[in-house]
Amino acid sequence: MERVKTAVVGCGMISNIYIKNLKHLFSIIDLAAVADINRTAAEEKAQTYGVDRVMTIDEVASSPDIELVINLTPAFAHYSIIRQMLEAGKHVWTEKVMTVTVKEAKELCALADRKGLYLGVAPDTVLGAGLQTARRALDTGMIGAVTSGLAVINRNQSLNAEVFTFLRGNGGSLPYDVGIYYIGALLTLLGPVQSVKAFGSPAPVHTPQFLFRNADTKPWQIPGSNVLSAALRFRCGALVSVLFDGNTVNASQHALTLFGTRGVLQVGDPDTFGGQNTLLYADQPACALPFTHGYDGKNTIDPTPFDHYGHRGVGAAEMAYAIRKGRRNRCSKEYGLHCLEVLDGMERSASTGETVELETQFVMKPLAPGFFSGFMGGSFRADAESSLME
Ligand SMILES: NC(=O)c1ccc[n+]([C@@H]2O[C@H](COP(=O)([O-])OP(=O)(O)OC[C@H]3O[C@@H](n4cnc5c(N)ncnc54)[C@H](O)[C@@H]3O)[C@@H](O)[C@H]2O)c1
Repeated sequence: MERVKTAVVGCGMISNIYIKNLKHLFSIIDLAAVADINRTAAEEKAQTYGVDRVMTIDEVASSPDIELVINLTPAFAHYSIIRQMLEAGKHVWTEKVMTVTVKEAKELCALADRKGLYLGVAPDTVLGAGLQTARRALDTGMIGAVTSGLAVINRNQSLNAEVFTFLRGNGGSLPYDVGIYYIGALLTLLGPVQSVKAFGSPAPVHTPQFLFRNADTKPWQIPGSNVLSAALRFRCGALVSVLFDGNTVNASQHALTLFGTRGVLQVGDPDTFGGQNTLLYADQPACALPFTHGYDGKNTIDPTPFDHYGHRGVGAAEMAYAIRKGRRNRCSKEYGLHCLEVLDGMERSASTGETVELETQFVMKPLAPGFFSGFMGGSFRADAESSLME
């Protein structure tokens, strides 16, 4: 199968694991170029990871051989980069969130449809071993019909924004930055949401605390609700309570639990690729489920400090196979748009007090089971990658 010639746009922190995985893990991708508004950043990544070409953003758009652009810029820059690349005839994979408004996301989806191009959207942790195993447990009826669920994550998002400065802009609140992993996981496991009801609180005005970095910056306030308490009614009938609290401390108490008619599934951390799932039945000991799928986040090839970010890029690779095979990709633009509409629905409900009915829908097929073997130093990885093909 002809490899898909790819360029990465945005050479910041998360690009390290993306570039490494795109170069070494997925044989469908031919990573040909990197670009960044800050050319030095792109030059550094090209040198560190051995990428042949450093381009400007406009050169990526006008380069006839680049088929796929992987957008790793901050959320507030997504709309303009994605639009430019789609208009230039490139398929686009973007890091989360697709854009910071539903209106912009709908516009980009319509543009991709008009142009007949793929637009794929993170989080792709939902294609990891943890969440695909959870999906298989549900699809095979291990807990019966899901009646309800609970999703919780907490952080000190204002403190974190001292280091990751892009968190001070639109898309930087805890629900948009981290809550989206929980929303993406719930959507992957339960399908689309029908309606949303929520209460919210803003982030406090933050005075810099982390003294050795950005100590001279003025106070800032992360836009939107930084605490959201919401109830989601899924089209499948499940009722899920969601709590995202970005106004507390970095002692994460994450929970993702689904309650069913025959059992309970404690789903592993959806912010990782290899969250361990636990099955609970009445009057039985808890049972850890072995993974049925391959991308468990453990990189075995030349470990680097960024490897805890796991198998990022798997969604882009799955999309590259979809492009070659002419089928739909799993982390589709419809999935990305629905993730955003759920978050936006929570915000709207919190500000109006009304229940928000969602307009968009999506379908995501599970991946075929696969195994990422550690045999021979991890070089026997064909089975995991073959699960991305169909
Ligand atoms: N850092 C993480 O832990 C993490 C994890 C998962 C996903 N993400 C997502 O990945 C994306 C990037 O995050 P990051 O942590 O790498 O951010 P970063 O700030 O470290 O890097 C962003 C890069 O994009 C470049 N950039 C900004 N605007 C640009 C533009 N208009 N054109 C070209 N380049 C531009 C910046 O110069 C910078 O090099 C975000 O969408 C974020 O939500 C980050």
